[in-house]
Amino acid sequence: MIKKISINDLRTGMCLVFTEEWRQWFKDVKIGSRLKIKDRQMLNRMTSFNLGSVTIDTDRGLDMRVSVSEEREKAKEFLGHAKDTVTETMNNIVDGKAIDMDAINSVTREINSSLLRNEDAMISVCNEVRSVDEYLYLHCVNVSTMSITFGREMGMSEDEIHKMAVGSILHDSGKIRTPPEILHKPGGFTNDEFEIMKTHAIDSRKIMEQIPGLLIDSIEVLVASQHHEKFDGSGYPRGLKGDAISIYAQIAAYLDVYDALTADRCYKKGMSTFKALQIIKSGAGTHFNPRLLSYFLNTIGVFPVGSLVLLKSKRVAKVIERGSELHITKPRVQVFYDDNKNCPVMQEEIALIETDDEVECFASIDKYENYKNYAPSGVKFYDGT
Ligand SMILES: [Fe+2]
Repeated sequence: MIKKISINDLRTGMCLVFTEEWRQWFKDVKIGSRLKIKDRQMLNRMTSFNLGSVTIDTDRGLDMRVSVSEEREKAKEFLGHAKDTVTETMNNIVDGKAIDMDAINSVTREINSSLLRNEDAMISVCNEVRSVDEYLYLHCVNVSTMSITFGREMGMSEDEIHKMAVGSILHDSGKIRTPPEILHKPGGFTNDEFEIMKTHAIDSRKIMEQIPGLLIDSIEVLVASQHHEKFDGSGYPRGLKGDAISIYAQIAAYLDVYDALTADRCYKKGMSTFKALQIIKSGAGTHFNPRLLSYFLNTIGVFPVGSLVLLKSKRVAKVIERGSELHITKPRVQVFYDDNKNCPVMQEEIALIETDDEVECFASIDKYENYKNYAPSGVKFYDGT
């Protein structure tokens, strides 16, 4: 379908249709010809021309993004399927049964379809429903979800993105063979326990190599076998260094750590997104490939979904949708507290792009006891280590 949209709504993946107005900049352009917006660079270039609205072809590219609230129910349904499928997959591995790849492929496609309509609904729903008992399953789904956005940020092909997402959903499958007393142990491991813990990456590889069609160098298997390798060579199981680590596993390393830091576990509260971002940034060059940092930050957002922020109007809010590619510092938020008056306010969703208000900073963690009881679900408060 041909649609006219505001230039502000143009996003990567859309297919632009050249109309008469473009002739002022591109004299020879063929009217009606199409251009797929491949990446942010191209998006920034096309939006730098002073056009209020543009025409897109939704049969050849993405349609308008729907809001998080419009996508929420679908995202919840798909998250449920994904969680059930990962749970069943883990049970099948324990029972020595084959992994149902049709089911894995199907849930990965469902997640992808939700992200194409809105990139943040799935993560937002996941933050809200996540419980400590379901950590392993939701961690796999979350890493897979973020890997799709990451791959798209990097301009990967749909085939690569799909394989990376499948690898991510199975990346910790080897943990099903880790003794539970080690897997769920609060605090640090002894050396011996850590050696046992490390074997899960090898076990994940062995499990995935049993899947017909997957080989040791398949994208899916590389994600699983190398997601704990570190850029400086200090990771495991093989101590691979730099680009000897598959790019897909380098991506998984970022997302695996970010999700693990921000998740609540039986032995610790999840860190705030702000603190987790600080830790990840400081690991770029040692733990992580520094060339991928900007893609990671674009994937997570300047103000990630679930962040607690203080607005210029001194209202405290939860980020429910990242800012668009063109307005990354203007997320959609849910306000719930007045920091000046120290009292709750009526919860209200605000698209900051449509107001004069803006994010001043991440909200002060020192004050979280004040906000805590009034916050919507899915906010990350803890700022410990
Ligand atoms: Fe792992």
